[in-house]
Amino acid sequence: MSKTVAILGNGVVGMAIGRGFSELGHEVVFGTRSPAGEKSRQALAAVPGSRAASGAEAVAAVAAGGFVVVALPWSGLREGIEQAGAGRLSGKILIDAVNPLDFSTGTPTLAVGFDDSAGETLQRLAPAAKVVKAFNIITASHMYKPDFGDGVPDMFIAGNDAGAKSAVSGLLGQFGWRRPIDMGDIGASRLLEPLAMVWISYGFRNDHWTHGFSLLGRKD
Ligand SMILES: NC(=O)c1ccc[n+]([C@@H]2O[C@H](COP(=O)([O-])OP(=O)(O)OC[C@H]3O[C@@H](n4cnc5c(N)ncnc54)[C@H](OP(=O)(O)O)[C@@H]3O)[C@@H](O)[C@H]2O)c1
Repeated sequence: MSKTVAILGNGVVGMAIGRGFSELGHEVVFGTRSPAGEKSRQALAAVPGSRAASGAEAVAAVAAGGFVVVALPWSGLREGIEQAGAGRLSGKILIDAVNPLDFSTGTPTLAVGFDDSAGETLQRLAPAAKVVKAFNIITASHMYKPDFGDGVPDMFIAGNDAGAKSAVSGLLGQFGWRRPIDMGDIGASRLLEPLAMVWISYGFRNDHWTHGFSLLGRKD
């Protein structure tokens, strides 16, 4: 059944996930600071049938229990969620792809860790939304229908709401992933965001950006 999905952020991640939703028959609305800007123009061209609006309008178009993808940079997370409106996000499933990266030294490092995470920050910014960490450990080009020659990648998820995690698991299946590995409540973002740093560090050391993780000997 076609549903409206909002995507906050029209960069490579927003476009990749948007393309997946579009191919599955959903209507995609990008929430952006500049609906008529060049990045929106590129996103609309990349995702058939999509449209661009303000964050508030995009989120308002999603039905209760529907998906809102958060594909914002860490530096713009607070602003993006405030523009969308915490009240409008209430009861919606926030798919959180954000990695809290600090680029100030030229090499990305984690801006928070050990005792906090982007996932928990997002849950605090939108307390009545159901935040599910997902997609943060894979490159944008493999978020939909991941295809590696030497194995099947795994996706780890985390979130406080079991129903929301179940919905995201179903979505990941439609996106071509095998059943994701549930790491617990949103606090487990403290593990999943550093895992993305392993991915990023490997990328820089090898100048190679198409790799993913797989857990061997998993229970199912
Ligand atoms: N790139 C990857 O392969 C990858 C993989 C996994 C996770 N991630 C994470 O996913 C998130 C999105 O990554 P991305 O590579 O798609 O980012 P990006 O290309 O930089 O795009 C992010 C979008 O966010 C919007 N935005 C809203 N507020 C902003 C602000 N204050 N400053 C800057 N941009 C703002 C911008 O659109 P408007 O200007 O139109 O508002 C921009 O197009 C990040 O947290 C990243 O760490 C990335």
